Amino acid sequence: MTADTEQPAGKPSPNDILVPVSKTFYIETFGCQMNAHDSEKVIGTLEHEGYAQVSDEAEAGLILYNTCSIRDKAEQKVFHRLNEYKRLQGEGKRFAVIGCVAQQEGERIFERAPYVSIVAGSASYRNLPDMLARLEAGETRITGLDDRQTEETFDTEFTVRSNPHRGYITIIEGCDKFCAYCVVPYTRGKERSRTSASVLVEARRMADQGYTDIQLLGQNVNSWRDPSGRLSFAELLTAVGSTPGIKRVRFTTSHPRDFTRDIVEAIDATPTLCDHIHLPVQSGSSSVLHAMSREYTRDWYLERMSWIHSAKRDISITSDMIVGFPGETDADFEETITLLGAVRYDAVFAFKFSPRPNTPAVGMPDTISDEVKTERLRILNDRQREIQREHYARHLGQTVEVMVESYNAARGQIVGRSTQNKTVNFTLVPDALEPPIGSYLPIRITRTMPNCLVGESIAGALPLQTTLQAQPFVVLN
Ligand code: 5AD
Ligand code: SF4
Repeated sequence: MTADTEQPAGKPSPNDILVPVSKTFYIETFGCQMNAHDSEKVIGTLEHEGYAQVSDEAEAGLILYNTCSIRDKAEQKVFHRLNEYKRLQGEGKRFAVIGCVAQQEGERIFERAPYVSIVAGSASYRNLPDMLARLEAGETRITGLDDRQTEETFDTEFTVRSNPHRGYITIIEGCDKFCAYCVVPYTRGKERSRTSASVLVEARRMADQGYTDIQLLGQNVNSWRDPSGRLSFAELLTAVGSTPGIKRVRFTTSHPRDFTRDIVEAIDATPTLCDHIHLPVQSGSSSVLHAMSREYTRDWYLERMSWIHSAKRDISITSDMIVGFPGETDADFEETITLLGAVRYDAVFAFKFSPRPNTPAVGMPDTISDEVKTERLRILNDRQREIQREHYARHLGQTVEVMVESYNAARGQIVGRSTQNKTVNFTLVPDALEPPIGSYLPIRITRTMPNCLVGESIAGALPLQTTLQAQPFVVLN
């Protein structure tokens, strides 16, 4: 299949809908941060093409569904949701299925849901303006499907970010690693990096717009290689972290295979780089890692952990894990459990293995029953919770800088996030003015929980309410 497989060019077929497309759209997004940010770029592109976003699907001329297929029965869920859309088709609405399920299922989507007009995977989003023009011209089966062909990334200056303080920048798209369980290499195309210059221009533009917190994104963010050959990944981190106005830089998701020691050194040397590394291990057993084609061993991974543990800063470490991969024995699973104790993660996202279409793991023998997977997941989560309960206690009495994210009126608390990516629920000292969303302030930790920290603001760090008139709040630096 070639990039952007399409209907024969030319006039709309007799079956095509000739009712003009109302230039309003509604978008629903599922899945990871990459998908969430893709939607921000898709929204910006649509708005640039003259479409207006609406918050109710009933008011939309075009309904887009940005899908995820990483686990479970994602395709079935999408078809189920499309069935719900069916009732809207008589109203002249058009439908677009985009994202990973679109790429995975391709034209089968038209067969099962003939009222869908666009099916596009993420590697073809740069052709969206053209697809929209064809939609407006009355075409109904428009595809943007890429079979690991695209060399280009989807950078756009029209991105519409949903949060005015923290925003994403995609630095690398796609994946060439082909882990045995994973659909991503088939749904997001081949690995392709943006130049350091374009990333830094975007970071500066965001800082000028008032963003202080940037998250660099990539399926394997640290596999980023500068196409212009100027910077290494660690140097890019330092450069983004040196952008005037930027206070926090995170990056996710890292792959152990490309995890180099200079990343830890960059964090140690650059205060704006956050004290947090997400480095999914997937399993603690070298033989399972081998079967997964992860191409590293437990010891090799632990060596990377020792670099992070010996950093000058207290860098929090988080991971993803899969239980019940085909052939995983009790002894293999036990190695995953002992790894939890050896690393002492700050958070673990654990999943039951789910076979995904087209991946090598689908055909592997020694499948594990769902009961066993469920039990292993429970054991893993229980153990990790115990570890977090102990490990988070190190923050008791510390003063941590928090970025204010929201207010929880019901609990009388303010919700913020630490540089380690931990949620901090805090209260204000008496009479302090409420700090605005997006501001930074020091919080003294008074209690620790397995999943969050609890604290209070510090007298003198915030302006006080006066009986005359509230003073403007000063953002602390
Ligand atoms: N089954 C279970 N978990 C999976 N993940 C990816 N593919 C699968 C699968 N087929 C998990 C991995 C990955 C995270 C994003 O999702 O742990 O790091
Ligand atoms: Fe999937 Fe492995 Fe690529 Fe991550 S590195 S996206 S788990 S294939």
